[in-house]
Amino acid sequence: MTIQRTLSIIKPDATSRNIIGKIIDRFESNGLKVVAGKLIHMDQDKAAGFYAEHDGKPFFANLVEYMTSAPVFVQVLEGENAILKNRDLMGATNPSEAESGTIRADFAETIDANAVHGSDSFDSAKREIDYFFSEKEILTFPAKNLLTFFKNHQLINIKLEEVFLNLFHNRGFYRHL
Ligand code: CMP
Repeated sequence: MTIQRTLSIIKPDATSRNIIGKIIDRFESNGLKVVAGKLIHMDQDKAAGFYAEHDGKPFFANLVEYMTSAPVFVQVLEGENAILKNRDLMGATNPSEAESGTIRADFAETIDANAVHGSDSFDSAKREIDYFFSEKEILTFPAKNLLTFFKNHQLINIKLEEVFLNLFHNRGFYRHL
């Protein structure tokens, strides 16, 4: 089981049409968890920097103009194989080619106004998450029956059962059980 994090952007066409919730529902209903999120209005530099790999392509100027035209919702999604799962849920870049049941087939309008962006690889997920979020803004949810905490920047999970057994053992309580 590979738990990954990926960056997702709900684009101006979708935020303007009040369908942020409907799109997030697709992620949550399919096992992805929102572990960070915010509504932002990007300026030209922020959008151009984010899409730097497309600089020089014929659609670059339109893309930057479009992404700065209204607020977008940026979020970090976490879950099993989150990077690929997010891309499967989004569907093809061009909504006219997206499989039915995908977010772009159901909610997108054109290749520019295509509702969502999602990281396409492990490396781009890391770069894109860091582009919008600090480590402190990405939160961890305690798992059931697990004591979860960060130590030396590492996520540590200990079964609660083991914590109690250790406590009883160390204090000699186990003799009275
Ligand atoms: P996104 O996944 O955000 O990545 C780059 C964006 O550029 C893409 O979605 C589209 O919205 C936009 N775009 C516009 N024209 C093209 C094109 N011909 N090929 C790829 N992306 C395009």
